[in-house]
Amino acid sequence: MTRRQGSRAEDRSAPQERGTRQVRIAAVGDLHFDGTQQGALVDLFAAVNAQADILALCGDLTTHGHPDHMRAFVKEMTGVEIPIVAVYGNHDHEYDATADLTAILAERGVHVLDGGQVVVQGIGFAGAKGFAGGYGRGALAPFGEKLIKDFVGAAIEESIKLETALRTLTTDVKVVLMHYSPVTDTLRGEPEYIYPFLGSSRLLEPLETHGASVIFHGHAHGGQLEGRTPGGVPVFNVALPLLRKHGLSFQVWETPAPERRRAAQPAAGGEEREAGAA
Ligand SMILES: [Fe+2]
Ligand SMILES: [Fe+2]
Repeated sequence: MTRRQGSRAEDRSAPQERGTRQVRIAAVGDLHFDGTQQGALVDLFAAVNAQADILALCGDLTTHGHPDHMRAFVKEMTGVEIPIVAVYGNHDHEYDATADLTAILAERGVHVLDGGQVVVQGIGFAGAKGFAGGYGRGALAPFGEKLIKDFVGAAIEESIKLETALRTLTTDVKVVLMHYSPVTDTLRGEPEYIYPFLGSSRLLEPLETHGASVIFHGHAHGGQLEGRTPGGVPVFNVALPLLRKHGLSFQVWETPAPERRRAAQPAAGGEEREAGAA
């Protein structure tokens, strides 16, 4: 049903299927913007606007989450006329001002997802930051000190957020945005001793159970571009420092657009909402 392609400064788009409208989602994270290099992201966002229909931002938009950083980041996106969906990263939490950041992004029309979902052009988006804790048998267990239990609890909480968001989406295509990684496939290349800080397998279960079509994450600046969940869901690491190493500035994932009649209708449960253009 879906296919993806990389995207460079020059357009490497695959030819469209004849007669089929496609929705192109450009994804990138880890831009780490603080405003000191004004205009540094303008060309990147101009290319996104030209090559995609929806922009997905996978966290670490700012260096330290200061509202001034986010205001500067929003200015970089002045040329973006397509809808924008975003999750935060750990860096965006550093200044402890995510409520202010969300207000700034909301004013710009960005859909910030923290366990929520939104339908854009008939495509469902579910998103949450995610959290750390490690993978499989090596995952940190909720045992002993309260601090450890709280740490593990934070990952479980993020997993429940993703489950809730995905469960309430009824679209055929469900795109998941996260910052931390639910799998180790896209971490290969990072030192193994930091894997526990790059994500958690506790985030994986809701993605496979509730039918994610594709997963985008960031945070692992030195990992791999592409992997899969054990159940076969494609996973893309869109951390900008990693993309740059491969001559990319974002990834474009393309999917056939749903019929307009279906795209415009709210879900039967009434919890799903169709968003207008940002
Ligand atoms: Fe980052
Ligand atoms: Fe990060």
